[in-house]
Amino acid sequence: MLYCQILIGILSNLTNKRILLAVTGSIAAYKSADLTRRLREAGAEVRVVMTQGGTEFITPMTLQAVSGHPVYTTLMDVEAEAGMGHIELARWADLLLIAPASADSLARMVQGRGDDLLGAICLACEAPIAVAPAMNQAMWADAATQANIATLQQRDVHLFGPAEGEQACGEVGSGRMLEPLELVTACSGLFATGSLAGKKVLITAGPTREALDPMRFISNRSSGRMGYAMAAACVEAGAEVVLISGPVCLSAPERVTRVDVESAAEMLVATESQLNGCDIFIATAAVADYRPIEVAEQKLKKQASTLTLSLEPTTDILATIAEQAPATFMVGFAAETENIAHYARGKLEKKSLDMIAANQIGREQDGSPIGFESEQNALNVYWQGGEKALPVMPKSRLARELVELIAARINTKI
Ligand code: CTP
Repeated sequence: MLYCQILIGILSNLTNKRILLAVTGSIAAYKSADLTRRLREAGAEVRVVMTQGGTEFITPMTLQAVSGHPVYTTLMDVEAEAGMGHIELARWADLLLIAPASADSLARMVQGRGDDLLGAICLACEAPIAVAPAMNQAMWADAATQANIATLQQRDVHLFGPAEGEQACGEVGSGRMLEPLELVTACSGLFATGSLAGKKVLITAGPTREALDPMRFISNRSSGRMGYAMAAACVEAGAEVVLISGPVCLSAPERVTRVDVESAAEMLVATESQLNGCDIFIATAAVADYRPIEVAEQKLKKQASTLTLSLEPTTDILATIAEQAPATFMVGFAAETENIAHYARGKLEKKSLDMIAANQIGREQDGSPIGFESEQNALNVYWQGGEKALPVMPKSRLARELVELIAARINTKI
């Protein structure tokens, strides 16, 4: 029974988490295939990088087969860098797990070396990093290794193990890598925050569609990804989550109650009906500001050479809910193309919000989209008397950071 509960906890924490597993030169690398398989069984997506030393102990082919993805081994490989280079891999990861971590790989991390793939990833990685040391007991006990571990821990690198026992070299002592299942549990623990435990969170997401006739509508480019990532992050933080979603091509995160709507009017009704007992309302939806005054019952036929549409404003859902539920912690989003701080703070005041997360819609320097239609985003978060910038990162990680900001501020609401 207890085992089942632990297993369910592990599964929920690791579901859809992106774990970048780095395999370095240690005999314990033979366990990496099993570790990869068990992480995937727990719901994580796993990609593998290997140092030259790692490939001496287990083949990239094996880890490619069990991870279901190509294995990355070199820094200067033109083809690999064109696909997923070291920066993309570092950005992709929710967790960089170095297992086994050899004595040499720990020393290289301490030095901040960037002359191989793993070194460069460690430097570029903003996600948590965990090391699972595996080496001979004398190497582990050596003053240099102990000093390196102390330095890494000071830099917030998580230490998993090592365990004590009989070693591959025949000696007995501390230095064995933890078993794969123990490592899965340790990874899971890093994602369990519980910061919103017992809270009910209501989230709007995606675009709305405002009908012109039975076939046509006015809408916008919102993909819903940020709202869905917020829903997943709130569940992960222990909240009960209801997601009111406009039409998107995403499936609901696990353990989220999803209510599908189309128009702004439907979104308002659905939101009001879920408001009871709601502690936090997060409005990520890109709600249409206007809708056609008249919706034609039949398909509009092509007649004149120009067509003028008459539109009327929709109800502002966030402002309405803020009025109806003054005790609920209100979080708005603002997508802007200019003067972000000015417009965002204006909306914070005008809609009586507790927090607003603003982002710039546009393109990164390399031309890739940021904000709408993108996997990545950056946010400037504002509240009364404070602000925090969250730099460009995958929306899943951004959502987790925003949830922690919300959790930290929620008790300031009287
Ligand atoms: N919002 C809402 N209902 C609307 C319009 C907006 O709930 N009818 C919410 C959005 O979900 C978002 C916030 O209000 O959390 C700000 O949305 P945004 O479109 O940026 O602001 P607007 O008030 O519509 O201002 P503008 O479009 O002029 O920038």
